[in-house]
Amino acid sequence: LKEYPENTIIQRPIVAAHRGVPSLAPENTMASYRLAYDLGADMIETDLKITKDGHIVIMHDDTVNRTTDGTGRVRDLTLDEIRALDAGIKFGPEFKGEKVPTFKEFLQDFKGKEIVLLVELKDTGIEEQVIKEIEEENMVDQVVLQSFNLGSMTKMNKLKPEIPDGYLFSAGVPGTEAGKLKNAQKMLDYGTSQNVTLNASYGSAYQEFNTYMRQRGMLNMHWTFRDEVAFSDKLQEGIIGPITDYTQWLTHSPINL
Ligand code: G3P
Ligand code: CA
Repeated sequence: LKEYPENTIIQRPIVAAHRGVPSLAPENTMASYRLAYDLGADMIETDLKITKDGHIVIMHDDTVNRTTDGTGRVRDLTLDEIRALDAGIKFGPEFKGEKVPTFKEFLQDFKGKEIVLLVELKDTGIEEQVIKEIEEENMVDQVVLQSFNLGSMTKMNKLKPEIPDGYLFSAGVPGTEAGKLKNAQKMLDYGTSQNVTLNASYGSAYQEFNTYMRQRGMLNMHWTFRDEVAFSDKLQEGIIGPITDYTQWLTHSPINL
């Protein structure tokens, strides 16, 4: 770590490592998450899906095709079949042997460590099971749940209000700036009424939106930063929580706002 003079205040955002650090290690693997932790990420973002035989595993896509050496839909494969796949080799030979993690394994690895797990549900109907696994590990205080599915989000909020929920949305739908802002405002009202926070795409992170969220003490995480210029612009505008593929850009240097 870089050394700074004593009493230096390093002001930096809350950094969520998107699927680990996919710019340096294969996405959604334990190697990628451990790297995120070592780099000083504040949160690790991840995606959950269910296997044919009812196990929760970590995978972004519907199929295993892009990230592993196998083929097929997660929903059509058993846990044993998925665990037999290599989730590292396509990224590079040094990651050969990385497996598709189970949600349990992920939880257990970071239990009690100084990091928050930002867990996105990619399937619906798994809400109870996901919450049960979090409870079994006594990690209610270490997890934030998120989903693009409003029904799923509301369900989780009812099942376990103690776990913060972040509704993923994008106000960047075609239309005028005023229309987008109106949409963002609608979502904000919804979030406040349902006690869920709003994790908007960074294109939807209007200054008014950020101010509104900050005034209410609502953490809002924005996805997904992969561009240094956009990063810098939005940090200047005051976003608090970038979700990024490039954790290494943000965690080890001071940000001059
Ligand atoms: O954390 C939110 C972000 O991950 C949503 O997009 O497609 O990468 O899951 P996606
Ligand atoms: Ca995600």
